[in-house]
Amino acid sequence: VIGVFDSGVGGLSVLREIRSLLPSADMVYLADQANAPYGERSLDEVRSLAEKAAGHLIERGAGTVVVACNTASAAALQHLRRTHPGTAFVGMEPAVKPAAAATRTGVVGVLATPTTFQAEVLDGLVGRFAEGVEVIPHPCPGWASLIEDHGADTHPEAIAREVMPLVDAGADTLVLACTHYSFVSGRIAEVAGPGVTIVDPALPVARQVARVAEASGSGATTYLTTGDPERLAGQIRHLLGVEAAPEGLST
Ligand code: DGL
Repeated sequence: VIGVFDSGVGGLSVLREIRSLLPSADMVYLADQANAPYGERSLDEVRSLAEKAAGHLIERGAGTVVVACNTASAAALQHLRRTHPGTAFVGMEPAVKPAAAATRTGVVGVLATPTTFQAEVLDGLVGRFAEGVEVIPHPCPGWASLIEDHGADTHPEAIAREVMPLVDAGADTLVLACTHYSFVSGRIAEVAGPGVTIVDPALPVARQVARVAEASGSGATTYLTTGDPERLAGQIRHLLGVEAAPEGLST
């Protein structure tokens, strides 16, 4: 079983790619919506929430756990690997390397939650992969909640408020370093214009999952939420075009 979790619906962007690569894998998706958004909590809080979420998925038989959330990966991935040596963890990190290879202007913008940047995730990546490139961290407070509520219909003005300062600073490449942002990549592209490349790591991360996880099963997907199962069903319909009957989990 492949377990996948996020604070909410963002990780569905990764789940969708895993499903396309592994059609018969059994997957369990956990949306910790009672505790969302993670990106405006402290790193310590997110670490303990991630610990709980991973624990639920392991109880449900997950041998591989995908931390489909940049905030939780930044706060907890190393800790989870240390405390659960029998489980394979795949996490998210800002896709600085492909962005540095793609930029022509030498300016890359990274969009993520405030808490992801608190973890100072960029320093090591920029040193290793982006020498000579200006990498601008840009927190987007509120985006994850807007995308929970409106999905791909998130208002372009809210998108432009965060994207335009990066475009104005000369960025021609934008890294989506929060899994929720995948669902507004079309909106970001409209706002940023045709000269801007958007780097979304959902597919490369799914490929990594396909390398490490068990691929055979019945192809079932179980959805769990710590929030309202009806609401999640509506979100899954809107974002993935799939009918699902999520189970509620008490926290
Ligand atoms: N989807 C998450 C991420 O990738 C977190 C969004 C949130 O809960 O703030 O960072």
